[in-house]
Amino acid sequence: MSKYIVPLSFFGTVIGSAVLIRNHVSGGRCPSTATIKGKTVVITGANTGIGKETARELAKRGGRIIMGCRDMQKCEATAKEIRGNTLNPHVYACHLDLASMKSIQEFAEKINQEEKRVDILINNAGVMRCPAWKTEDGFDMQFGINHLGHFLLTNLLLDKLKESAPSRVINLASLAHIVGKMDFEDLNWEKKKFDTKQAYCQSKLANVLFTRELAKRLQGTGVAVNAVHPGVVATELGRHTGLHQSVFSSSVLSPFFSLLVKSPELGAQPSIYLAVSEEMEGVTGRYYDVMTEKEPAPQALDEETARRLWEVSSKLVGLEEEAKSVTSKTVAEGQNKAAQTDPAQTL
Ligand SMILES: NC(=O)c1ccc[n+]([C@@H]2O[C@H](COP(=O)([O-])OP(=O)(O)OC[C@H]3O[C@@H](n4cnc5c(N)ncnc54)[C@H](OP(=O)(O)O)[C@@H]3O)[C@@H](O)[C@H]2O)c1
Repeated sequence: MSKYIVPLSFFGTVIGSAVLIRNHVSGGRCPSTATIKGKTVVITGANTGIGKETARELAKRGGRIIMGCRDMQKCEATAKEIRGNTLNPHVYACHLDLASMKSIQEFAEKINQEEKRVDILINNAGVMRCPAWKTEDGFDMQFGINHLGHFLLTNLLLDKLKESAPSRVINLASLAHIVGKMDFEDLNWEKKKFDTKQAYCQSKLANVLFTRELAKRLQGTGVAVNAVHPGVVATELGRHTGLHQSVFSSSVLSPFFSLLVKSPELGAQPSIYLAVSEEMEGVTGRYYDVMTEKEPAPQALDEETARRLWEVSSKLVGLEEEAKSVTSKTVAEGQNKAAQTDPAQTL
């Protein structure tokens, strides 16, 4: 027996220290007790992980919650579960596949038509280190879902967010952005060899750049936008990685790993803090590491890169054409009006 004492106590000390460290670095719970009765929250990817716990907590705080998810069976079941345990009947499941521009447009149209307001938009859904898959529109899956999908969705909901101001947009980024690089020559991995880790990091860097550029464009509108790294959280995010794919790692390593990382409930606290806390009122264009403001990586601070990403993204998702057709429609309407009042215009 004595020969086991040293290894056992060593193992116990490692686990105990890991749990203490985890609790220390988790950042704790959102200190604000603010309630959000009368406010509408749109949250993407809310059927599991951080999104689900964010939706649950915001429902507890009295919000009207619209969960945008791609799998309606999982979404309905989660909405039902949240309605049941928060006793908030205003939790709704709505179809949204961020890998399809058509689906994003339909979702946004439904929200714009049916909802009186959108006070909080949480761009939470994400995919990490999947194979070289493409979205319905031919974008790299990670860039397409994590950045372009949310870019399009946010732009389509902007009028509603402005009408509901003061309102807030929260983008779930990641510490992984620090090793990200924007490759404008090949954003969708069509020319170079696919690197799934770098594809994730690029998409998360795009989240921070998008946050900063959007905040700049929204100055004076009352819509605040911030990015957050939620910490390392035990969710399904690693489903495409080795840790989840072999029996040994999913049955032996994975439970050990779970001891070292935060629960989804704690992982949701940073999003909740950014969404509801009084001290975040009017704060915009920032990057938070859990609940502490940090300076993001230098490449995320480059204003020219952020502007360029905005322009390229607008083209890719067709917002530029939409803006052009609105402008030409307005010009045509203006000319029409002028023609009606000035007969010379009809010649
Ligand atoms: N967990 C972490 O340690 C960590 C660290 C840094 C950043 N983050 C960020 O936190 C966010 C939430 O991640 P998580 O950890 O909660 O991961 P998760 O448990 O895998 O949840 C991701 C959510 O996104 C949804 N989603 C994926 N593709 C979608 C699509 N095409 N359309 C709509 N929804 C889609 C998933 O739906 P399905 O269930 O249908 O696939 C799921 O609801 C992500 O943006 C992630 O990058 C997480």
